[in-house]
Amino acid sequence: MSSLDNSKPNLLSGMQPSASSLHLGNYLGALVNWVAMQKDFNAFYCIVDLHAITVPQDPFELRANTRRTAAQYIAAGIDPAHSALFIQSQVPAHAQLAWVLNCITGFGEASRMTQFKDKSQKAGAESASVGLFTYPILQAADILLYQPKAVPVGEDQRQHLELTRDLAERFNTRFGETFVMPQAHILKETAKIYDLQVPTAKMSKSAADPKGLINIMDDNSSITKKIKSAVTDTDGVIKADAVNKPGVTNLLGIYSAITGESVLSLEDRFAGAGYGVLKTELAEVVIAAIGPIRDRANELMSEETELDRLLALGADKANAVAEATLAKVYERVGFIKR
Ligand code: TYM
Repeated sequence: MSSLDNSKPNLLSGMQPSASSLHLGNYLGALVNWVAMQKDFNAFYCIVDLHAITVPQDPFELRANTRRTAAQYIAAGIDPAHSALFIQSQVPAHAQLAWVLNCITGFGEASRMTQFKDKSQKAGAESASVGLFTYPILQAADILLYQPKAVPVGEDQRQHLELTRDLAERFNTRFGETFVMPQAHILKETAKIYDLQVPTAKMSKSAADPKGLINIMDDNSSITKKIKSAVTDTDGVIKADAVNKPGVTNLLGIYSAITGESVLSLEDRFAGAGYGVLKTELAEVVIAAIGPIRDRANELMSEETELDRLLALGADKANAVAEATLAKVYERVGFIKR
């Protein structure tokens, strides 16, 4: 994307560089869609380091994780020559628009965000930062700067997308038509990948037990070990039933998401086989899908100068669009142009 293709709608999404690896939930819930959608959209893919520092980060690790995240995006198939792949802190308009949006967000409205409630409970109410509280408003700024039609995310982001739409509508009503209404793009089948040890909880980097999540950067033997020790149940029947058999249901869902084979067909094919057989095959399927991404990401990580060059290119593309939106916003709210 040398410049925007006006015949295509815009798209934006982002992930936090807050771990040394993305996990299978990030990959199946979001990244796979990002890759598929980049051809039909002017796509903006952001590494949200400003969001990452809403909880404490080691500066050395943050820099490394930011590059690692970029490497995983590219290794999974994001084409930096076509899509804008960039680091949020390299585009100052994100923080600038967030401030304006902070000022039209109700305190009660922000207090109702469930992700803040969950995360602040974990951190302890007293140690949760104000940045964590305003996190969804920065996310709204990320989105609205690029006038995107679609925002491909997992189910856990639905409430933040609703807030973004509310803020866009409020701003448009108060100051005149400025923002395009973004639409969450959530695929039912991969909207929520569950923890392998606690299959009623979503797979998350803050999992209590590291065996619960599969990381893109995991080596093959730890992927196999984690899948083999996934929690199931004792009746031995391979059937999807989210209420009574969440563990097996999750394994079938992951299998189906990766291979495209329907859960019904998997149930048929594995009928009478034990969980061990399902797990062994699933481990092979997962390794075949993410192993090459891990290996390519490791190669890209060793070409740091090239990675930084690609990210700077992405930041230039993103800045051009973001600055234009911010200029419109500043003018609408009554700021004097220098
Ligand atoms: P983050 O980094 O927590 O998650 C990145 C993406 O992965 C999806 N995801 C999942 N999908 C399915 N199953 C899971 N277990 C699972 N875990 C995570 C998330 O839904 C997300 O799509 N707030 C965002 C980051 C962000 C953003 C944005 C996203 C900041 N600004 C603007 C979209 C647009 C987040 O928490 O990402």
